[in-house]
Parts: sequence; structure tokens; C-alpha cells
Amino acid sequence: MSHAEQDHDETRRDFLYYATGGAGAIAVGAAVWPLVHQMNPSADVLALSSIRVDVSELEPGTQLTVKWLGKPVFIRRRTEDEIAAARDVDLSDLPDDIARNENLGEVDANDANRSLDEAGEWLVMMGVCTHLGCVPLGDAGDFGGWFCPCHGSHYDTSGRIRKGPAPTNLPVPVAEFVDETTIQLG
Ligand code: FES
Repeated sequence: MSHAEQDHDETRRDFLYYATGGAGAIAVGAAVWPLVHQMNPSADVLALSSIRVDVSELEPGTQLTVKWLGKPVFIRRRTEDEIAAARDVDLSDLPDDIARNENLGEVDANDANRSLDEAGEWLVMMGVCTHLGCVPLGDAGDFGGWFCPCHGSHYDTSGRIRKGPAPTNLPVPVAEFVDETTIQLG
């Protein structure tokens, strides 16, 4: 293995470790983002347009935050209750009735059009409030999903805006499972 290849491998391993290590951090919400920020991967890793994230440690009801293309991405393994709450919503109750899912194009905001798998256990979305870009807190807000404390935007368990100034749902980036426990972003 050349020196360059070895460097690349080590960088990649460091980043995967960092990505996995985020699981604990997100449990206490956005307040820890600056801490995670200090563990930034190097510039060449940041430039990667596609990353793979090991989600084998995620239990239902927890989420991981990874940094991708310089922004936080939430990967949540939802509980049955969270899925049921997300799916039991009338589209007419949604301020934004578009899925905002880059994997599907312009489809309606039914939860099935936002989750990564058919059963709805996995939700992947950008962790950036669509109002002015704060990082919303998980397990919070009036709809049991995410809450952005900057100006009071409430997102439901599907990451859809339900109340407050944010104009649109949290966007779902290009993502897919590449094996049972690995999600690729980009
Ligand atoms: S930035 Fe989130 S509510 Fe304003």
C-alpha cells in the first residue's frame, strides 16, 4: 500500500469513528454540536461528496448526527410510536405538503415518501432548520420530533414543519442502504 493510500485509509477510518461517535453526542441535542464541531474531519474528508455511515449501534428511538458536505445530517432509527405518529397525519394539516426528498423528486409529504425504508424505521434528513439555518434539537417540540429554539419551529417525527416560521420540511438528502447496517449519503 502506498503512503498516500495509507493516509487515505487512516483518514477514512478516523471519520467513520467520528461519525459513529456522534451517536452519544446527539442524545443531548444541539447544545453539543460545537463539541462535535471541534472533531471536524480534515478538509479532504469534508470534500467527499459521498460518505458511508455505520448505523449498527443505533437503537430505536435514538439518532446519529454526522457532518456531510459541511452540514449536520440526522439519521434516526424511529420507534413504532414515532412511525405511527408520522403516518397518522392528514396532508391538509401540513404547512408544507411536499416531501422534499431528493431521492424521489416532487411527491407529497406522506411519511412513506420521506423515510428511507418501506417500514419507515429509518429517517435521514439535513439537520438544518429551513428558517434561518439553526440545528434543531431532537426529541423535542410540540409534535415529538425536532424543535428549533432559535425562533420556535416545531417539526414532527417525520421532520415536517408543523408550527413556527420555518417554511419547509427538513430536506431528505440522497441516501441509501448499501448493506444492512450501512447508509451511504450522496
Ligand atoms: S432558524 Fe429555526 S426557527 Fe429560525
